[in-house]
Parts: sequence; C-alpha cells; structure tokens
Amino acid sequence: MALKIGPIEVDPPVVLAPMAGVTNAPFRRLCRTYGAGLYVSEMVTARALVEGNERTLRMVRFDDDERPRSVQLYGVNPVVMGEAVRRLVDEGVDHIDMNFGCPAAKVTRRGGGAALPVHHVLFRSIVRAAVQAAGAIPVTVKLRMGVDDTRLNFLDSGRMAEEEGAAAVALHARTAEQLYSGEARWPAIAALKDAVRTIPVLGNGDIWEADDALRMMAETGCDGVVVGRGCLGRPWLFGDLAAAFAGTPVPPAPDLGKVMATMRLHLRLLADLLGEDGAARDFRKHTSWYMTGFPVGGDVRRQLSQITSFADLDRLLDGLDPTMAFPPEASRIKRGHTRGPRAVALPDRWLETADDPTPPAGAELLVSGG
Ligand SMILES: Cc1cc2nc3c(=O)[nH]c(=O)nc-3n(C[C@H](O)[C@H](O)[C@H](O)COP(=O)(O)O)c2cc1C
Repeated sequence: MALKIGPIEVDPPVVLAPMAGVTNAPFRRLCRTYGAGLYVSEMVTARALVEGNERTLRMVRFDDDERPRSVQLYGVNPVVMGEAVRRLVDEGVDHIDMNFGCPAAKVTRRGGGAALPVHHVLFRSIVRAAVQAAGAIPVTVKLRMGVDDTRLNFLDSGRMAEEEGAAAVALHARTAEQLYSGEARWPAIAALKDAVRTIPVLGNGDIWEADDALRMMAETGCDGVVVGRGCLGRPWLFGDLAAAFAGTPVPPAPDLGKVMATMRLHLRLLADLLGEDGAARDFRKHTSWYMTGFPVGGDVRRQLSQITSFADLDRLLDGLDPTMAFPPEASRIKRGHTRGPRAVALPDRWLETADDPTPPAGAELLVSGG
C-alpha cells in the first residue's frame, strides 16, 4: 500500500526527518538525487515566520524543481500557528509538519517542545488551528513518546491529532528524557499504529540501513519511515531505501573516492545558498559525518572541521586514498545527536495544570533540534 499524506503519494514510504541546521534546500537536493520520498525542511518557528524574521524566511526557500515542498513548523500558540500556516500555504508549500518533540531544556522549561502535549487542550487547539488554516494542504504531527516513562502521552496525542484532522502522525520512539540514548523503542510505534486507525502512522528512530526500514515496517505495521541521523554523511541511504522498497539489491557502499565526490558536490550546493564562506562553515559538521569510520586520522578530521573554502576541502581530500573501502560498521555508528538520558526541565506545576489552554510564554525562542 502506497503511503498517502493527504493528497501526496509518498513512494517509497520514506520521509527525510526534519533536522535543524541540516535539512536545508541543498541537503534535500542532494538526498533527492539518490531516492524519492518526502524531504522535510529544517524546523522554523511559527512566530519568527509571522514576524518576518529574515533568517527564518531564508530557511523556507525551495529549489524551483522541489516538489513536494515540505516545511516543519514549531509553535506554541494556536493563533500564531494558524497565521504561519496561512502564509506558508500562500507561498505554495505542499506539506506542513509540526514539531512536538523538541527536548531542548530551554524550550521544555517553558512548556514548549516535547513538554507541550502534556497540556492536551492547548495541543489540540494548535493542531486544529494549523489544520484549519492549511485547507487542502496536509498537516502532520511529529511526537516523542512523552516527557519520560511516567508520563507517556503519545497514544492520546496521536488520537487527538487524528481527531483534529492531521494527515499523519510520526513518532520518534523515545521519550524526551531519553534524548538520543539507548535504542528507539519500536514497540511504541506498533502501539500507536493500533491506536490511530484512520491516518498513516510513521515510525522514526534508528534506521541506519535500508533493511532497518523494512524491519520497522514489518515489526510495527507502520505506514512509512522517517529517517534522520542515518543519512548524515550518507545521503545515498535514500537510494538504498528506494532499492530495498522496490525489492532490488541495495547498491554497494561507496568507496572513499565516491564519498569525497559527494562531499565536494554537497559543499558546492551549499555555496549556492550561503556563499563559499558560509557554506564552508556550515559544511564543517558534515565532514565528520562523511568521514565516520574511515581511518583518515585525527589531524585530517580536525582540519576538515576548520575549512573556510572550497580550496581547503579540495586540498585535504586530495591527500586521502580514494580506493579506501567503506568500513562496514560505519553505517551504524551514531552521529548527529547521541547524548542522554537527562531529566526533563518543566515549568512549575506544568503537570498539575494539564487542562490549561493558555499558550506558555517565552517558549518560542529560536530553537534548534528535535
Ligand atoms: C542534528 C539534528 C537536528 C534535529 N532537528 C530536529 C528538528 O528540528 N525537528 C524535529 O522534529 N526533529 C529534529 N531532530 C530529530 C530527528 O528528526 C529524528 O526524530 C531523530 O533524529 C530520530 O531519528 P533517527 O534515529 O533516524 O535519527 C533532529 C535530529 C538531529 C540529529
């Protein structure tokens, strides 16, 4: 069965996870060259969008040929969220995902991010406002399992999202307290699939290789997968996923020569958006992901993390052996975020005031991450 998110057919049923600071238009373009699916933008804050923040407006730019155009929004206020959605729809966006899983302490401490669904009346009203403002454009909801194991609310939140007209619900199968530690708890995805019957359920967490996606679908019954850290430094994972879902052999992993060609291309795509200097700075984090598992030495890694130009990258890569094989264990080495667990900071009496529909103040700082 093909995955349908509202009117959008997502085939194969693969979604690039929104990742702040990563899933900008150049990275999405790179991923799209390998596979197909739905590629979600970096998270943008509803209030910043409504206020016309320049950096935020730059984050919702799309390549002319990018379809569907998918944006992740973060917000805590139904009115502001509705207005942000209206603007995005007017701009021609095809899909809006809402982030209710951000575990950053500065956000949860103020009742935003993964803390927000605890206030279920407010959560419901934010989803409702977004869905109403979106009209025919599908709105999806991305959740974690809850604040911690004593406050698991993803089944209730998923059902509420379904009732309010969300087109799909995605679960990162960890609590906020877990952050990125341990294994994602896929049985929770199966439980959500049981609870939410009329819209697709997307599973998220620890898909490192294409087989993991098939296994998650088989084990949980979910309708599609959301892939985050597995594609950091490995955008060809989307090609592997397309092959696996088509039942054809997964292509062999690239040697270092091919990885280096991908790096050069990625940096140049970034430069089209950010200029050479900005691109080089942005690309530094990617270099460590591309080099994950390759025995290139600490000195090269360090220098790669300090590049300021195309020439820097070229000079460093020219010194490496392009025939080096991709280390088999490298695919499963965690990258991006790895930390946790950590107790979740909440506002005073947050749990005791779960029925309060008032948007929390100060929880819409420009935040990054989920
Ligand atoms: C660098 C980075 C940035 C992230 N930013 C966001 C974000 O802005 N919004 C969001 O919903 N999740 C964000 N996430 C979480 C991912 O979307 C995803 O839920 C999580 O990484 C688990 O999936 P994975 O195991 O496939 O990585 C981020 C993750 C990483 C590694």
